[in-house]
Amino acid sequence: MTYVGDTISKVQGLAGTDRLVVISDHTVKKLHGDKFPDADVILIGQGEDIKTLDTVEEVYRYLIELEADKGTFLIGIGGGLVCDVTGFVATTFKRGLPFGLMPTTLLAQVDAAIGGKNGVNLLGYKNMVGTVTQPRFVLSDPTFLTTLPNKEISNGMAETIKTAALGDAKLFKMLAKIIDVNDTKTMTEVIKRCAKFKTSVVAKDDMDAGLRMQLNFGHTIGHGLELTKGLGHGEAVAIGMVMESKLMGVDAKVVTQLEDTLASYNLPTTIKFDKRKLMASMTNDKKRMDDIMTLPKLEAIGKVKLIEMSMRQMEAGLRDLS
Ligand SMILES: NC(=O)c1ccc[n+]([C@@H]2O[C@H](COP(=O)([O-])OP(=O)(O)OC[C@H]3O[C@@H](n4cnc5c(N)ncnc54)[C@H](O)[C@@H]3O)[C@@H](O)[C@H]2O)c1
Repeated sequence: MTYVGDTISKVQGLAGTDRLVVISDHTVKKLHGDKFPDADVILIGQGEDIKTLDTVEEVYRYLIELEADKGTFLIGIGGGLVCDVTGFVATTFKRGLPFGLMPTTLLAQVDAAIGGKNGVNLLGYKNMVGTVTQPRFVLSDPTFLTTLPNKEISNGMAETIKTAALGDAKLFKMLAKIIDVNDTKTMTEVIKRCAKFKTSVVAKDDMDAGLRMQLNFGHTIGHGLELTKGLGHGEAVAIGMVMESKLMGVDAKVVTQLEDTLASYNLPTTIKFDKRKLMASMTNDKKRMDDIMTLPKLEAIGKVKLIEMSMRQMEAGLRDLS
């Protein structure tokens, strides 16, 4: 269940116990520690490099010290990284503790905390080990967003625009009028709409078999650009959505609408790239089945279908774009 708004007072009641352990990071605790429930707090590091089994083991050690057991309720308060680690620890420690999430970045509120996927990186591969387990609740309070640095706002906005383009034409229209993350009332609506869309997709496809693939819009090329061009996630996904759309022959008017909206949030829509390096990074993509990639294609803003594309077609398409 996802609650959006001033929801912090709900935590204890929703958890159904006062034996709470919070997992967070130093930045979030420093900025928003006053919103934490009364609980023991375990702080983890920051940055993708620490999203590993070593960090998970460290958290297990603290939980053992705290004598955590099945009656202990874990609450992740932080960005997507904290949410992913909390979900993984909760579903594996003593074969499973109940948990809830309080996402504090825009990306986590509109995307990462929704859907029950969690996990950590292994040997440099992203999210290589993990589980799919729904948290008992997700509490998204937009006032957390007021302290976000611009880079994190861009990351979240790219995913928000992605959601709107895929399945919510009304949200896409709302985004045309520049939204400020400090506008808590509007952000409440934006987060609710994104959470609703992702929840509905996941509900129809919770084992990631088909429909959920549409959520990868922009990420196939985006991940390749992140790796080969050193772009931030939001920038890479923004360019990825535009490139994938052009490559699949999406109607030029739709592509322009997408480009204009991305640009109005200062997200890039184009970049010079090395086709060979980009293809090599996509060849390792975990969404690829043999030679075939399944990609979401926009039929209109708010309407999508999945299509299959061979690596050869992809390569030819990239040649035309470069
Ligand atoms: N499970 C999923 O379905 C899913 C989906 C998308 C992304 N993810 C994962 O999410 C992670 C990225 O999440 P993210 O973009 O939230 O980044 P993040 O969790 O790494 O957080 C980015 C930075 O923002 C800081 N921060 C968090 N909240 C803040 C606030 N309110 N004010 C100021 N600073 C704040 C954090 O301390 C951190 O330094 C990746 O590991 C990615 O794999 C998971």
